[in-house]
Amino acid sequence: MDEVTIGVDPQAAVAEIHTATCYRLGSTPVSPPVRSIPTMTTPTGPVNEPRRLRLPRPGRRWARRLLLLGAAASLILVAALAVGVWMYTQARVDTAGDVAFDQPLHIPPLLEPQTDSDGRAVFDLQLQQGTTELLPGIETATWGANGSHLGPTLRASRGDIVVINVANTLPEATTLHWHGMHLPAAADGNPHQLIPPGETWSPTWTIDQPAATLWYHPHPHGQTADHVYRGVAGLFLLADDQRVEVPDDYGIDDIPVILQDKRFNDDGSLDAGDHFLSTVGQLGDEILVNGTYSPYLDVERDLVRLRVLNGSNGRIYNLGFDDDRTFELIATDGGLLEQPVALRRVQLSPGERAEVVVRVDSGERTVLRSNSPDIGLDFVQRRFSGGDDRFDLLELRAADNLAESPPVPNRLVSEELPDSAEADTTRTFELSGRSRINGEKMDMSRIDTVVAVDTTEIWEVTNRSGNPHNFHIHDVQFRILNLDGNTPPPHLEGPKDTVFIPPRSTGRVAVRFADYTNPDVPYMYHCHILIHEDAGMMGQFTVVEPDEIDQESRQTPTDPRHDHDG
Ligand code: C2O
Ligand code: CU
Ligand code: CU
Repeated sequence: MDEVTIGVDPQAAVAEIHTATCYRLGSTPVSPPVRSIPTMTTPTGPVNEPRRLRLPRPGRRWARRLLLLGAAASLILVAALAVGVWMYTQARVDTAGDVAFDQPLHIPPLLEPQTDSDGRAVFDLQLQQGTTELLPGIETATWGANGSHLGPTLRASRGDIVVINVANTLPEATTLHWHGMHLPAAADGNPHQLIPPGETWSPTWTIDQPAATLWYHPHPHGQTADHVYRGVAGLFLLADDQRVEVPDDYGIDDIPVILQDKRFNDDGSLDAGDHFLSTVGQLGDEILVNGTYSPYLDVERDLVRLRVLNGSNGRIYNLGFDDDRTFELIATDGGLLEQPVALRRVQLSPGERAEVVVRVDSGERTVLRSNSPDIGLDFVQRRFSGGDDRFDLLELRAADNLAESPPVPNRLVSEELPDSAEADTTRTFELSGRSRINGEKMDMSRIDTVVAVDTTEIWEVTNRSGNPHNFHIHDVQFRILNLDGNTPPPHLEGPKDTVFIPPRSTGRVAVRFADYTNPDVPYMYHCHILIHEDAGMMGQFTVVEPDEIDQESRQTPTDPRHDHDG
């Protein structure tokens, strides 16, 4: 499974093989067909060849035509094969060992809230366009919040009432969604809370969930991939009053790590195009961490907590360190685990988070690396979907005299996860192709699922397709009950809002819908591979009072089309 544990100097070997293949096939892509031309033309008979076959004239002409045809067909076949091999070879990206790590890691600034007269924490976010030096010396047109790219980190504590003023100064309508947040549907920032250009949207809610690494990003119907790729995204960190001794000095030993892959055109603009053979849409060949190219981080303490967010549109990462050291996973999407899990690898699909604590020794350097992820595809699809890629992401540079941190405790928190014993409803969701759930594409005016408030349900999600998908549910943190019938590994036992569902497999999760009802405004569930979400792999659910279930309409009155019709 871990290719880096095989062999004496496996990384070098892999790199060597890769370079060799690249050189042989990648640098001379058209040579096989060119070289084959003379051999193909010989049978047609050069003039000076002795003529043994004496066919009648029309017969000879036909034989020649057939031979020519055959030659042309073989030529096309050989050329197609060569192109195929060349494309296959070119499709793999491997930067392991090749990154300079010469830019200090950008730490998104903390956004300080104002306290209003009602004691609420008020945050101001302005979505804006601008240019950013993403690659050294090159300006790229980007979008951001309170800046030209990405956004500040928001922090709030359990019990806080937050108000967030989201001013949209972008040229397009968009939304801002609080991914992982338990909140009223009207504050969710999903496609129904569109903010027109020049307007401000000010949702408010009470933070009521455990400490966690959440994030915000745009969610306009059909355009989420585009708006996220342009750069609007940021972290939303929640704290609670459980005392857990893990590193928590933001930017010092508690480090945001937002992973996003980008592809650049020669003029520095972002290339949003995707390879037609990719099952996950657009894939970048450069990975930015918090928007930083080639980043390093100076480390002052012997334990570092990395809050990793896969903020990419479609890429799946399989994280570890270059020397395969173990690290401790302390939290997943929705917060801390009951106990840390020692791992060498943790895989993240788009939207997922992992908090890890890694130990470093004085004076050393170690690299956070993404190894080839396991995405359940055959060798061709895997190659074009990032399944063979490796990336060096971030170098940790330990100071010569590291301060000592208290060790990570063996017990972290008691989780507040849904109990499947309380569930009496099971729903099934079938993901098919790249755009459908239960046979249907997302329709803004259709409510797909109505659930009763303060109940627990089992949601069974099956990926019927040959494409990788994941499944994200708004408003909740769920418990993974099993994956293809197997109890989840320890690192997937914590609070989750997004779960990876490989091709032709099933995940069962327990979900509790609590506190908020609104028969008119839905939440979403969807694949978080953004090109799939935008293509329609998304559904809507409302949470209502139990006695409203039956009379509940399956239409959204908030859908703009209703206003036009009515
Ligand atoms: Cu992060 Cu509905 O999404
Ligand atoms: Cu979400
Ligand atoms: Cu998908």
